[in-house]
Amino acid sequence: KSGPVVAIDGPSGAGKSTVSKTLATAIDSAYLDTGSMYRAATLAVLKAGVDPTQTALVTKTVKNAKLEFGTTPEDPFTRVDGEDADLAIRGDDVTKAVSAVAGNKTVRKFLIEEQRRIIKEAKGGIVVEGRDIVEVVAPDADVKVYLTADPVERAKRRAAEMGVDEQSTKQDIERRDSADSKTTKPLEAPVGAVVIDSTTLPIVEVVAKILALLSNRD
Ligand code: C5P
Repeated sequence: KSGPVVAIDGPSGAGKSTVSKTLATAIDSAYLDTGSMYRAATLAVLKAGVDPTQTALVTKTVKNAKLEFGTTPEDPFTRVDGEDADLAIRGDDVTKAVSAVAGNKTVRKFLIEEQRRIIKEAKGGIVVEGRDIVEVVAPDADVKVYLTADPVERAKRRAAEMGVDEQSTKQDIERRDSADSKTTKPLEAPVGAVVIDSTTLPIVEVVAKILALLSNRD
């Protein structure tokens, strides 16, 4: 039998990436950050000089780009057209444009197919983080989690992570949550998911809770 599929959804700044990578390392499974995939697609669009709202052009550009994703939790690299893109996909330009690209239906269909292929190929199990993993990408996942935290705490963490100020980060998170709400439901717990609020919980305790869910599942 293949290893478990763990789906982790939640809004930005809830701690998904740290929790997912730590968990994947602990259970020796693969790791997939679907947010990086939308970010990589967005970088390809910006590099091509295409307006992110130009549906047909965006679709064509994303399909023609060579997007590569590392799935080991120790080195989850992202490459766009053969170039290392880890830094660029976290930049301001990509963060501002990503909701528009992620709202493109054809781009989503294309990336979701790719996500399902990666999950299927991960024989040793995989931790998948995103916004629509529980409801759309992997509804058959062995463990489904909605990870959240209060908005002030989320802004604090993002600001510390990026080395920027808290107020502008809070506005940025609110803007992105609201733009994303047209496509996914980042602020709603999906049906069937276990809700974990990480506002006052240390990472290790969040990971311990998910490990407990994994060992209690059968
Ligand atoms: O998680 P992260 O902040 O890196 O995600 C970047 C963006 O990618 C989100 O703001 C959202 O627009 C999009 N996204 C998505 N569906 C996912 C993961 C991310 O639409 N499963």
